[in-house]
Amino acid sequence: MRTVYVNGEYLPENEAKISVFDRGFLMADGVYEVTSVLDGKLVDFEGHAKRLERSLHELDMASPVTTDELLAIHRELVQVNQLNEGGIYLQITRGAPADRDFAFPDPEETPSSIVLFTQAKNLANAPSAQTGISVISIEDIRWGRRDIKTVQLLYPSMGKMMAKKAGADDAWMVEDGQVTEGTSNNAYIVKGRKIITRQLSNDILHGITRAAVLRLAKEAQMEVEERGFSIEEAQGADEAFITSATTFVQPVVTIDGSSVGTGQPGKIALRLREIYIEESRKKAL
Ligand code: PDD
Repeated sequence: MRTVYVNGEYLPENEAKISVFDRGFLMADGVYEVTSVLDGKLVDFEGHAKRLERSLHELDMASPVTTDELLAIHRELVQVNQLNEGGIYLQITRGAPADRDFAFPDPEETPSSIVLFTQAKNLANAPSAQTGISVISIEDIRWGRRDIKTVQLLYPSMGKMMAKKAGADDAWMVEDGQVTEGTSNNAYIVKGRKIITRQLSNDILHGITRAAVLRLAKEAQMEVEERGFSIEEAQGADEAFITSATTFVQPVVTIDGSSVGTGQPGKIALRLREIYIEESRKKAL
């Protein structure tokens, strides 16, 4: 039984409650973050806290806690749940007004809701990192502000199910002929020593893992090109991979049934995974 955090209280998970009028529930009016935990420590907490602040700001939503309080809650949850490896899910919504209404409630009367819980998961030794994953391509029909990390995850969930149905692990979304990102990760291809990934804009989530991996790639004398690429270009690349807080770096070995490179996890992806995990362990707090 986990201990979770809900609106100021630490409670057993089966006693934690949110109102039926909560706008996260009724309107998907909420934002979230997933911070990974390695060796009982938080990976890139600062990056996640900054992105959360930005998501809240873009939606004109108040934060019920300060960044210092947020860090303390994360640490307390890791400790009480004895979490060694996995993640912390955090969600803030526009709270629960007295009734359902499209207009935002007055923040003075309706405080934001906040929920955090831990998820134990094998991250560093995930089997899919050794085998690589397969992806299918699907049309990206999400809304136009994918840079805001909102809880509107219905289409990414549908994409995951489309992938499952096709016998694949995940889906890469495509808009105007170019890959935007994976259902819950950023997408990359490798040509020679050049790493290619879509440039930052409102079209994709600005991954915290993406920022760290691109910095580490440059430090390792790899070339980084931030631009869009098509599924055809990806199928013809030497390697492909994804990044996120829950997968770190994972090789993609098949795209729409066609092998990428040798059809085995690529050297550059595996090397980046190794350096990323090494650095994350060192810097985690
Ligand atoms: N997803 N793109 C999308 C659409 C995502 O949902 C995520 C993260 C990423 C990678 O971002 P980061 O490196 O900051 O985790 C990119 C999280 C892990 C999730 O929804 O569980």
